[in-house]
Amino acid sequence: MSKEIACKEEEGPLGKLIVVPKGLYNVVPDTTTISGVDPKGEHTIYRGYTIADIGEHADFYEAAHLFLYGKLPCEEEYKEIKKKIDTYRAQIPEKVLDALRYVPKTHPMYYGAYGVTLLGQYYGTDWRFDDDFLYEHALRLIAQLPVIFTAGWHLANEGTIIRPDPNLSHGKDVLRMIVGRMPSDLEARAFESTLVLYMDHGFNASTFTVRVIASTLSDMYSAIAGGIGALKGPLHGGANERALKMLLDAKARAEAAGKPLEEYIEEYILEKLAKKERIMGFGHRVYKIHDPRTDVAAKFIKQLKDGEWWLKVMKKAEEVMWREKKLPANIDFYTGVLYYQLGIPVPMFTPIFAMGRIVGWTTHYIEQVKNNRLIRPTEKYVGPTGLKYEPMEVRCKK
Ligand code: CMC
Repeated sequence: MSKEIACKEEEGPLGKLIVVPKGLYNVVPDTTTISGVDPKGEHTIYRGYTIADIGEHADFYEAAHLFLYGKLPCEEEYKEIKKKIDTYRAQIPEKVLDALRYVPKTHPMYYGAYGVTLLGQYYGTDWRFDDDFLYEHALRLIAQLPVIFTAGWHLANEGTIIRPDPNLSHGKDVLRMIVGRMPSDLEARAFESTLVLYMDHGFNASTFTVRVIASTLSDMYSAIAGGIGALKGPLHGGANERALKMLLDAKARAEAAGKPLEEYIEEYILEKLAKKERIMGFGHRVYKIHDPRTDVAAKFIKQLKDGEWWLKVMKKAEEVMWREKKLPANIDFYTGVLYYQLGIPVPMFTPIFAMGRIVGWTTHYIEQVKNNRLIRPTEKYVGPTGLKYEPMEVRCKK
């Protein structure tokens, strides 16, 4: 893999070409006022506030309002966004949920992409770009995506659907639908805080995917379906599942070897690194020293089941990874453990990432279409030229 980090200029058929590093490393394709990392690379900023401040203190409605409308809400604004999200959550078309019964039983991320595309068939066909229209659809998607994911998961497993309850707060109701029991206030708060921590993160891969689709002036539902596809990958949202599976694998091996996990984890990681395997939940394209989102998640992990013990194991893993690879843990290492403490099934971890990130995706969609230029880079073709077509009887005899 190329590790080039500088741009080069070359002559191309339409003038000067700017050849950027592979993976668009450090490339800035546009500006945004939604979120980003501060110049020192220490904090992610959510519309002026640090992610840790909003992640720890704001509830789902406040944070969603901050993203969509650029400011934390006052009382009337809060009531309005809460009412809309809670009402939309309960108003998902029955036929969308019904359709989920007839597809193969697969990973819930597939249900998300499929269900959002179906919602688009209900609401997205006569697409417009005026503010009222765009914001209503953003709120509908924010409210209904969790219902699609949870319905898909339960249909695939028990064949039934747990219905939304508009009288509960968004975070509590979504967690209730996932785990099938009424969560405590602490559990709901811990869960909701991870949704807020996941809401946005600059031009990450899935958000950039959403912006690329938005730039074609396609509808918001199609753009979100694309974002879900990008998030599913193991190098992006799929890492929280894999990080927890790795920890559970290490736990089982430690038990079999009669060793405490907080000691065995070192041997386990070293073995994987020796085999050149990636340790999921470590490393980040932007945070090279510390992911500040992990601090907020750690505060909640501490208060949940076996929290002190989990943090001890995680700190040991972080110590080893820093010593060996100079890589910090990222948010997925922490949310993997937090979701396990809440009794959430592992395949729902990445969908939960999407249930938070949908706020950022829809906000970026709106920012993109309001100041649009088609995102369409140019390739540098390095394949052969000059070949001539020959009929099959000629080309296959050679
Ligand atoms: N375990 C072991 N080695 C690693 C890891 C890891 N988790 N991450 C990076 N490296 C090594 C990598 O092998 C490479 O080494 P070398 O230079 O010897 O080839 C070096 O570090 C640089 O890696 P890179 O892939 O070029 O770095 P990147 O900035 O392109 O990748 C990353 C960032 C997140 C894809 C990568 O760190 C990774 O694969 N991490 C594991 C997956 C993960 O946890 N993803 C969640 C990211 S946070 C949630 C989100 O916002 O999506």
